[in-house]
Amino acid sequence: MGRIAGVLGDARRSQRAFSMPSAGSYDIGARIFLAGLYRAVAADLGPFSGTEEILDIGAGPGHLAVELASRHSGVRVAGVDPDPEMSALAAGRAAEAGVGDRVRLVPGTAEALPFPDQSFDVVTSTLSLHHWDDADQGLKEVRRVLRPEGRAVIYDVPAWIARLEHEHTGFEQAVARAPFERRELRGFSWPGPLRILRRATLA
Ligand SMILES: C[S@@+](CC[C@H](N)C(=O)[O-])C[C@H]1O[C@@H](n2cnc3c(N)ncnc32)[C@H](O)[C@@H]1O
Repeated sequence: MGRIAGVLGDARRSQRAFSMPSAGSYDIGARIFLAGLYRAVAADLGPFSGTEEILDIGAGPGHLAVELASRHSGVRVAGVDPDPEMSALAAGRAAEAGVGDRVRLVPGTAEALPFPDQSFDVVTSTLSLHHWDDADQGLKEVRRVLRPEGRAVIYDVPAWIARLEHEHTGFEQAVARAPFERRELRGFSWPGPLRILRRATLA
């Protein structure tokens, strides 16, 4: 009985953290359904001069981090995630793609990013913000770790979709309160011409 309760508890936590019962099942779904999203986001984020330090918050199994490091041979990508299984999948993916030396996976959360001030040129995140316990605090941390000329580009579902899963303050509301001079929120075309996701650019 205790074991069943433990398994159910793990599945509930995973559902809250990434909408699937386990990191492995999320990764399979991401490979099948989200490959086009990672390509679209990597194209949208570029071009890069070649030496940028990029942070991917809630990097999960590392699809976007690996896509960025593979496309741009000089950039270095840090992926932060609280889930060790997700980070293990990401490390394996980076090694397999031959970019393990430029993709590092770091345990942590958006609300307490484990990096010094002004560490990154670009901060990004896909489909993660609506899982953060405190999106306002997460965006404050984004500001702290960005270099003065840096930019954050965050892609997530609108609040009405996030609320179908759990209570959430909402992407749009958190962006409106974020401590940046420039806050731009737009629809992001994916899949194809559909604009299911929103993209916030903060600088
Ligand atoms: C739906 S998955 C998205 C993963 C990846 N960005 C992608 O697009 O495939 C959400 C990710 O956010 C992570 N996450 C949950 N809460 C977080 C938090 N407070 N700070 C940072 N990441 C968090 C989860 O562990 C999970 O890897």
